Amino acid sequence: MLSVVVLISGSGSNLRALLDACQSPLFGAKVRAVGADNPATGLEHAELFGVPTFVVDPGRFETREAWADALLANVQHFEPDLVVLAGFMRILPANFVQALSPNLINTHPSLLPAFPGAHAVRDALSAGAKTTGVTIHVVDEGVDTGPQLAQREVQVEVNDTQSSLHERIKVVERELLVDVVRQIAQQQLQLSV
Ligand code: GAR
Repeated sequence: MLSVVVLISGSGSNLRALLDACQSPLFGAKVRAVGADNPATGLEHAELFGVPTFVVDPGRFETREAWADALLANVQHFEPDLVVLAGFMRILPANFVQALSPNLINTHPSLLPAFPGAHAVRDALSAGAKTTGVTIHVVDEGVDTGPQLAQREVQVEVNDTQSSLHERIKVVERELLVDVVRQIAQQQLQLSV
């Protein structure tokens, strides 16, 4: 059974999709813990499933590295085989990435390498992109630059707002993330950087 820790910052709908998928023993993975950088509303999904949670707030640390060390200690306490960034909105320093690499993956709401960073949906809209989508990738030390595992396209509609487009992306994203974690759990997908 693949042991997974998920990190979030927001509403946790991707986390919820993973928790739901893990209900089936055939899926091959279990979410052992969920962490966040703030008291994110998405932590409620974990609590509903009886999964332990932790919050490591960067505001309580002198440096990013010290924050990341504390976050890493919390993650490693659960001895995960895989760590999933599912809407985790902070860039992780090299010490964190190196400790978990290549078993650290991220889901991002664009067709990388287009529109990396924290405002992918807004940036795609303002660039007038006709197509955007979602990318699941292994995390390396860059910002959304690691090896890609899967991508899916979503069409931008004429009347799309940031929120309508992001909601449509997230429908596709949840399916794709669940599928990638299933493939890793069932050893159909090998991770490397
Ligand atoms: C997702 O669309 C995820 O790709 C994005 O935040 C959303 C979280 O939604 N992440 C990033 O933009 C990271 N750069 P959720 O909290 O409902 O799962």
